[in-house]
Amino acid sequence: MIRLNLLEETRFERVPVKVYPSQSDASLDVAHRIATIIKEKQEKGETAVLGLATGATPVKVYKELVRLHKEEGLSFKNVVTFNLDEYYPMAPDADQSYVTFMKKNLFDHIDIPDDHINIPDGTLKEEDIPAYCENYEQKISSYGGIDIQLLGIGRTGHIGFNEPGSAPNSGTRLVILNDLTRRDASRAFGGKENVPTKAITMGVGTIFKAKEIVLMAWNETKADIVKAAVEGEISSDIPATYLQSTDTVEFVLDEEAASHLTRFDLPWLTQDVVWSESLIKKAVVWLSLKLNKAILKLTDEDYNNNGMAQLVTEKGPAYNINIKIFNILQRTITGWPGGKPGVDDSNRPERAEPARKNVLLFSPHPDDDVISMGGTFIRLADQGHNVHVAYQTSGNTAVWDDDVLRYLEFVQDFAQAVDDDNGVTTKIYQEAREFFKTKQPNQTDPEVIRVIKALIRKGEAIAGARFVGLPDENIHFQALPFYDRSKFSKDISYEDDILQTMELLRKVKPHQVFAAGDFADPHGTHKVCFDILYEALKRLSKTDDWMADCWLWLYRGAWHEYPIHEIEMAVPLSPQEVKRKRLAIFKHQSQKDVPVFPGDDPREFWVRAEDRTSETAGLYHKLGLADYEAIEAFVRWKF
Ligand code: F6R
Repeated sequence: MIRLNLLEETRFERVPVKVYPSQSDASLDVAHRIATIIKEKQEKGETAVLGLATGATPVKVYKELVRLHKEEGLSFKNVVTFNLDEYYPMAPDADQSYVTFMKKNLFDHIDIPDDHINIPDGTLKEEDIPAYCENYEQKISSYGGIDIQLLGIGRTGHIGFNEPGSAPNSGTRLVILNDLTRRDASRAFGGKENVPTKAITMGVGTIFKAKEIVLMAWNETKADIVKAAVEGEISSDIPATYLQSTDTVEFVLDEEAASHLTRFDLPWLTQDVVWSESLIKKAVVWLSLKLNKAILKLTDEDYNNNGMAQLVTEKGPAYNINIKIFNILQRTITGWPGGKPGVDDSNRPERAEPARKNVLLFSPHPDDDVISMGGTFIRLADQGHNVHVAYQTSGNTAVWDDDVLRYLEFVQDFAQAVDDDNGVTTKIYQEAREFFKTKQPNQTDPEVIRVIKALIRKGEAIAGARFVGLPDENIHFQALPFYDRSKFSKDISYEDDILQTMELLRKVKPHQVFAAGDFADPHGTHKVCFDILYEALKRLSKTDDWMADCWLWLYRGAWHEYPIHEIEMAVPLSPQEVKRKRLAIFKHQSQKDVPVFPGDDPREFWVRAEDRTSETAGLYHKLGLADYEAIEAFVRWKF
């Protein structure tokens, strides 16, 4: 069934979509819908049948259900659950099993009888799986089918573990996991090689039989796949698009996951809009790139024929709009990231004065500074500013075990060579060797090994910052306590991290702070580092006068770049500077070739950095601005 959408605003959307301000609001609503079903069934003396998902997405829904049970007496005695999937093979008591997940997040905290819980069995012999799966389907039917089915969406577009290529009428079965899905799971398993290659999952056909289906998605990382699922053609390449052909589904999104839907991303295509300067900029950049035509060449017809008639009518002719936006973009470009002394700065991204600024660059991990803004870092130092760098975390998690042995062997051999071996290194070395022999995937290292890994990265960071031209006293290692603490406890307090950051800021009194504004960083460390810094700045702005002159610039890390219309400072790099930046990145040897956490991008960090900055330069050129080798981009955060 293809839906006809009669509302202008949502006319690109082929499924009902509800957008919430945050994932918490959305999760509460979903939890309350489930609670209502349970209570209605209770009143009628019937069983409520829930289809449950695992993963990061439904966690807050389960948390609210637990709260409803504990604080408001919601009982689950009349509830039967069927989970979507389980890895195969998988022992139920393994840390990563979906049985463990469900117990930890829901079942251990509510009054559901054990025999009402159904999760595909990851311990079966392979030949027994087909019969088991048929039985799973029959069991669902024997309860009259699923009343409400929760779904997340994988970045492959999978629902359950129905990966691309799954058939719309598929049933519960054993499947092979897609490579991207395994990479996404690699953190939980301590490396992709430990993620099972198979899973048992309910089929698309099984999911379709549910009376109500709720697909939830949060965060920008899901925005592209959500757009494809909601607005794209139905295709086995993206199994979630099959949901367009049932009328029992609703997509429940937070604003970030919805942000690439046409009505939010390109709102002028779906309705009349208020044309603010930033929206005009976004629309003109979009039009120019879409038509592959420089901004100054866009005509009234181009605007009219591409859904922007309202803009030329209100603000036109095209010529005026083009010049205005061209100039705004032109003015973002500067070779003087610390401001150009002695010139009129009214149309420049940075202030001319003071000519020599105190600059403090915060780097969440020890290599984000050079990877993300190495060219600008070098320029600031070359142009004589008082540049400091602060490495916020030790980054010890991302060092290979064999590097530890290599460095320890060096220390041992050196001690022997200078006749100074008191045996301490040998003892640590032997303990480390023994530990690594039996180390489990994802097992946290003992303190001494974490210290060695942190020192390896510290040495690399010093080499990188010295190469950029910083004096040693301007290189700061914060080693914020939250980073190691989070390995042992879920207790979230950042007070000591904030105080430590305030102290450093007070010492440097920066005119410019550079920080990673990379909120979609897959491991969350960048976001935590930003929140700590932001809180420190906020508190200082209430007490310290120098804060009135402190500007905060954000850069983005290895994962993605700011879209052109958001960029407020674009620093062009010459081919020589690109090369110097590359050499600075090379100082981080432990992260070269194959890093421990490459994310879902197979390219080395220096390649990503160069591709990203040359892409930004290419886009500026396409828009009709000068042709640079590379551009590093920044956004100013006003607080
Ligand atoms: C989980 C499942 C998967 C996840 C999806 C999203 O039972 O079947 O389809 O819902 O991979 O995972 P998260 O929520 O971790 O982003």
